[in-house]
Amino acid sequence: CGIIGFTGKKEAQDILLDGLAKLEYRGYDSAGIAFFKDNGGHISIRKTAGKVNDLRAICDDDNSSTCGIGHTRWATHGGVSNLNAHPHKVGKVTLIHNGIIENYHEIIEKYELQSSLKSETDTEVAAALFDKMFDGDPIETIKKTVPLFKGSFGFCIMFKDNPGKIYCVRNVSPMVATHTEEGTFVASDLTAFITFSRRYFIVPEFTILTMEDNGFTLQDLKGNPVEPEYLEVNWDVTAAEKEGYPHYMIKEIHEQPRAINRTISPRIKDSLPFFEDDNIPDSFFEDCSDITIIACGTAMYAGMVGKTFIQNKLGIPVNVAIASEFRYERPVITDKSMVIVVSQSGETIDTLEALRLAKKYTQKTLSVVNVKGSSIARESNYVLYTHAGPEIAVASTKAYTVQVASMYLLGCKLGLVTNRLSVEDAKEFINNLTKVPEMIKTVLTQEDKVAELTKRMTNATNAFFIGRGLDYTLSMEGSLKLKEISYIHAEAYAAGELKHGTIALISDGVPVIAIATQDHVYSKVISNIREVKARGAYVTLISKDEVITDKTICDVHIHIPPVADEFTIFESVVILQMIAYYTSTGRGVNPDQPRNLAKSVTVE
Ligand code: G6P
Repeated sequence: CGIIGFTGKKEAQDILLDGLAKLEYRGYDSAGIAFFKDNGGHISIRKTAGKVNDLRAICDDDNSSTCGIGHTRWATHGGVSNLNAHPHKVGKVTLIHNGIIENYHEIIEKYELQSSLKSETDTEVAAALFDKMFDGDPIETIKKTVPLFKGSFGFCIMFKDNPGKIYCVRNVSPMVATHTEEGTFVASDLTAFITFSRRYFIVPEFTILTMEDNGFTLQDLKGNPVEPEYLEVNWDVTAAEKEGYPHYMIKEIHEQPRAINRTISPRIKDSLPFFEDDNIPDSFFEDCSDITIIACGTAMYAGMVGKTFIQNKLGIPVNVAIASEFRYERPVITDKSMVIVVSQSGETIDTLEALRLAKKYTQKTLSVVNVKGSSIARESNYVLYTHAGPEIAVASTKAYTVQVASMYLLGCKLGLVTNRLSVEDAKEFINNLTKVPEMIKTVLTQEDKVAELTKRMTNATNAFFIGRGLDYTLSMEGSLKLKEISYIHAEAYAAGELKHGTIALISDGVPVIAIATQDHVYSKVISNIREVKARGAYVTLISKDEVITDKTICDVHIHIPPVADEFTIFESVVILQMIAYYTSTGRGVNPDQPRNLAKSVTVE
């Protein structure tokens, strides 16, 4: 979900609608806004299932209110409907909410709220409880109500008859705020108000933010004042705009050379990895018995690359855990285990909770995170920030490649510190890594060819991605990308495993994207390709071969420039991203906002 709130000297409606439009990338299915009117005596609400433009269409042409809240909802409790959209109003309370109130059912019963509820949402229950507890003093009401909720929440609340004031409080769900000459802003992420300020602070958990037009106050639930800790981002509003590209996704695909450069350059000194500026001491890498990498989605697939690379190169056991599984299993880690948590947003709730669990076992935790000051970055013992810049498209592209590059830097450092890698080999490795941005630029020149070949993909109902070793980990990312934005069912398979079941699904014309860039298993993958080709598959082969003369191997060949095996992943992934992108647009889907998906998943 996305949240924005503003109170100040300007009219709020456009600020809120534009802010919501900037939050569209997070994924949502309904939108709504609320304003103080009539000097606080009335709160007007407009909300609808659908997009921000649908909301804009039902907004007041004549709205001079300077204080309001806006929300984009990604349905959890209760389907997608006008009624379930936020804001929710009960009695004197109007609020918007990110997160999930887990004990909403108990609350309804205990406080006899049923008769005040019209929607199916947990949020309305929260509004009803705040209203029930309301004693005329908003702050006192919040203090006694907040401890009654179980779950995650970020609330922005307007109390009738308190014009110009918005009260905010959160647990887990992200929330940032700032004050400028125009007024005071709050949002679920900075993108919503970056046009007004690059300076912001994270609203601390269980702290009440009282927003007024000329300033704000922060206090904990006991009433003690809290000082905001300001942060500043090094990107500006243009970084979050399309800059002439038709979609954010393709823009972000093209940004990868720069993103990788920004991420690796400050961490390389004399051709060796260097983490002093990140305050990660060499001692962190000493005495490491094993590694667990925890993440979700694309970040997890970047973790898979890290595992294959580190385990093969250094011989240290690496386990990759799906965060939502790790949380509820018995962790097999000790104080010598290193835990690497990977997250673009730094706010994915499952990943955050998995980190919290891991910290009960080891203090060797490090996060690879893109968003400065995010929860995961703050709570891990060490953090290596990727510098992808804001990633707006829901489907991750540049965030993945910088995560992989970071894994490579970390693996290389670990090898050096534990004497598993010689200085000479490390230097050669790092020199190869620095060539990656240029390599990607070469691959990007094949965009038209990839666009052309995907014309055949747009009618597919199934697709398969196969490879071995690093190419297998990449297949997983390629297939996820295609599923996410084209809605074609896609599966990734270790090429050698296909024949143990999945090959039954291969029939005439089924697209198979085969990646064969790893020299030591190249001929094995080619044999596996022959197996699917013999059953009618339409094969696209990605390999380092200049040309494929044997036409019986594949239908389409995409050549990637020859580089050491560990680095082909950066080239091949760009091809896979473009395959997904052009298949998506070819099918008339908006790749930036795939159905049902959210960019930052702050619910379990
Ligand atoms: C969501 C996004 C994915 C992303 C995953 C993990 O599902 O749609 O693109 O890979 O969350 O997000 P994170 O911010 O933790 O990397």
